[in-house]
Amino acid sequence: MLRQVRVGNVSLQVRDEGAGPVVLLVHGFPLDHSMWQAQIEALRGTCRVLAVDLRGFGGSGGDHAEVLTMAAYADDCAGLLEALEIREPVVFCGLSMGGYVAWPFWTRHAARLGKLILCDTRAAADSTETARGRLQMAERVLRDGTSALVESMAEKLFAPETRQKQPHQVDAVRAVMNRASPPAVAAALRGMAERDNMTPRLGEVQVPTLVICGAADLITPASEMREMAAAIQGATYVEIPHAGHMSPLEQPAAVNQAILDFLSRSSS
Ligand code: MLT
Repeated sequence: MLRQVRVGNVSLQVRDEGAGPVVLLVHGFPLDHSMWQAQIEALRGTCRVLAVDLRGFGGSGGDHAEVLTMAAYADDCAGLLEALEIREPVVFCGLSMGGYVAWPFWTRHAARLGKLILCDTRAAADSTETARGRLQMAERVLRDGTSALVESMAEKLFAPETRQKQPHQVDAVRAVMNRASPPAVAAALRGMAERDNMTPRLGEVQVPTLVICGAADLITPASEMREMAAAIQGATYVEIPHAGHMSPLEQPAAVNQAILDFLSRSSS
């Protein structure tokens, strides 16, 4: 079911399905919970799946801040769990920006984190040039609307094979991006630009961790994710063939299998 949950001064929309250990799914930028449809279907038989819309995105309110840091989103995730009276550690599964949110969730709310799934994301901060580009894009989106961003991102999100064989998925993601509110997009861009470099801290991660990357990911390349996984003690790395940056949506069967294997292995 889709529900609205009050967290501080904002109402967050969350898809809440199934019963069992909690898996919190956190979407990429500038998307919403709908990107996780296939994972919700695969996991709700054995888990309670919470697929949240981050502040300002999808059906969640609160798109008026100038900057939304990854820490602010992480605090919202913790606030959501608190509001739902979930006290046990959860599986935090984030894609790309959702993975950037996983880092402050880990550092600020460690007691709430049981396992980590990092999809098509990175630990490194932006380079000066990337950060500058984000700040410029934030201004452009506020001035001209979200379409400026959609055009620059849409091509890079998917493997060529997905664009050919699953154009409906590409269109659906494009539609979600086009609906994103310009102030929310700008606030997230500014927040991503100022996020911390977590690479030196990867050795401190002590929870079971699964790292998933589309083999043809152009935004967070497999070579970088493989190195990130190698720096996290005991982490499992799974590369998904025929997938780009949106691997859970492009190759859902392979991603679901990796997640289900990880969850059953790490619970024994
Ligand atoms: C995302 O998919 O969340 C974005 O590509 C992240 C980014 O722009 O770094």
